[in-house]
Amino acid sequence: MSTVSTKTGSSEAHSKLILVGEHAVVYGKPAIAVPFPLKVKAVVEQSSGKIMFESKIYNGSIDNMPMKMKGIEVCIKETLDSLKEPFENLRIRVESSIPLGRGLGSSAAIAIAIVRSLFSFYEKKPSQEQLFSLVRISETYAHGKPSGIDTAAELSECPIWFQKGKEIVSLITGDPLYLVVADTGRIGDTHTAVDNVRKKYLVETREVEKSLDEIAKIAELAREALLSGDMYLLGSLLYRNHEELKVLGVSDDGLDTLIEAARNAGALGAKLTGGGLGGCMIAIGKDLEHAEVIAKQLMKAGASKSWYFSSEDNILYVTEGEKE
Ligand code: MEV
Repeated sequence: MSTVSTKTGSSEAHSKLILVGEHAVVYGKPAIAVPFPLKVKAVVEQSSGKIMFESKIYNGSIDNMPMKMKGIEVCIKETLDSLKEPFENLRIRVESSIPLGRGLGSSAAIAIAIVRSLFSFYEKKPSQEQLFSLVRISETYAHGKPSGIDTAAELSECPIWFQKGKEIVSLITGDPLYLVVADTGRIGDTHTAVDNVRKKYLVETREVEKSLDEIAKIAELAREALLSGDMYLLGSLLYRNHEELKVLGVSDDGLDTLIEAARNAGALGAKLTGGGLGGCMIAIGKDLEHAEVIAKQLMKAGASKSWYFSSEDNILYVTEGEKE
C-alpha cells in the first residue's frame, strides 16, 4: 500500500498599482505605489521526479518552461538552493486573478507567492531581505533592471513611498482613495517600455531629465496630498504625471483615450499605471459611487475590464462585459 503525502505549502500575494512615479523610479526618483486586491495563490505539494508546474499559461515539467517564464524557473531553483532542498519531488500550482503584462505587477506577485509557499512547505519563513532578493531574480528576467517598487508594494498592506536604495515608508492616507483601474486589453511590455525610455534618455538627455525631475516633484506633492487627504490635488497631479509619461513615450492612443474618458466622467485624476505601452490605467473618483460611474464609462470607451475599490476596505468590484 502506498502512502500519499498530504504535506502542502501555500501562500498568497496581492497585486499593486503605481499611483505616481513609474519609470522615473528606475532613475532613482521617488514613487508611490498602493496595494491592489487582485490575488495570486501558489500551492506546493509533494510529488515524485521532476518539479511539475501547473498554471493557466503553462503545465508541465519546470525544465521545459517557455522562455518568458525563465525567471520563475530560476527563482524556484535559487529558493530551493537557499533552503538547501533538492530540485525535485514537488508540484507547484499557481492560480492567479492578476492579468499578465498589464502593469499590475503579476510577475512579482507570482514570484512572491511561490517563494513564500516553498518556504512554508519546508516549514520555514523567509525574511523580507530573502524575499526581496529571491523575487528580484525573477523580476530581472521580466523587467531587465527593475527598481524593486513592484515587489515592495506587493509586500506591503498599505500605500508606500519608494525610492531605490532608501528605506521604504508606509503612507497612511488622510482619506480613503476611491480608485478605478481599467485594462486596455492589450499586453504592455514593461521590458520594452523601460528600454525605450533608456534609449530616449541617451539621445534626448535634457528633455528626459526635465521630465524625470518633474515626475519627482509630482511625487513629492502627491505624497503631501495623500497624507492630508486632498484628493482633488492628488487627482490633478495624476493628470500631470500622465502628460510627463507621454513625453517619455510610454503612453499610447488606447491609454490616452481611456484617460480622456475618465476626465469626461469627472475623474479627479487619471494616468497610465506601470510600464505603459498597453496595459492598465487608473483614475480617482470622488466616492465609491462615482468610481463605479467612471469604471462603466471606461468600459464604454473601450476598456476590456475595469475594477473599482476603496482603499478603506479593499473590497474589489469588477465591471466586465458591459461594453456597448
Ligand atoms: C513597473 O511596474 C514600474 C517601472 O517603473 C519599472 C520598475 O520600476 O522596475 C516601469
